[in-house]
Amino acid sequence: MIHYDPKWNLDKNSLEFIKFLIKAFNIKKVLEIGTYNGYTAHELSKITKVTSIERNQNNTYPEGFQVIYGDALTVIPTLNSTFDLILIDATKKEYIEYIKLLEKYKIINNNTIIIADNVISHKNKVQNYLDYVKENYHSFTLDIGKGLEISKK
Ligand SMILES: C[S@@+](CC[C@H](N)C(=O)[O-])C[C@H]1O[C@@H](n2cnc3c(N)ncnc32)[C@H](O)[C@@H]1O
Repeated sequence: MIHYDPKWNLDKNSLEFIKFLIKAFNIKKVLEIGTYNGYTAHELSKITKVTSIERNQNNTYPEGFQVIYGDALTVIPTLNSTFDLILIDATKKEYIEYIKLLEKYKIINNNTIIIADNVISHKNKVQNYLDYVKENYHSFTLDIGKGLEISKK
C-alpha cells in the first residue's frame, strides 16, 4: 500500500474528480507528469491505463502502471502516442514548457483533457501556463484541492 502524503499527492477530492471524468468519458489512456510515490498513478490505474513520468529514481512502485524515468522535458518528445487525459503535476515553473512540448510532439489531440494541479496554491509560478491555456484552449480553474486547471482544445 502506498502511503498518502497530503503535501505532495493530489488532494483526495481532486483525485475523485479525475476518477469521475475517467469513468464518465470512458478515458482509456492517462499520462501523468510527476509520479512522486505513485499514489495517484496507482489509484487511477485501478480504472484505466496510466503512464507516468518521474525524474527521481528513489521510489519503488507497485505493478499496474508504467513509470518512465527521466526529465519530462526530455521524455515527452519520445512518447510517440496521444493520451485521453494528461495530469500535469511536476515542477510548477515548467508547466508552460510541458504543454508546448505536448503540443509539438502531438501528444495532445482535440479530445485530450489536460489537468494541471496547484494552479491556486502556486498561482504565481504557473501564471504563464494559465495565460497560455486560457488564450488557446477552452479552460477554467476549478477551486478544489490545490486548484485544478481543466483545459481542452
Ligand atoms: C507533486 S509531486 C507528484 C505527485 C503525484 N502526481 C501524485 O499525485 O501522487 C511532483 C513530482 O514531480 C517530479 N518532477 C518534478 N519535475 C520533474 C520533471 N521535470 N520531470 C520529471 N519529474 C519531475 C518530482 O520529482 C516529484 O516527484
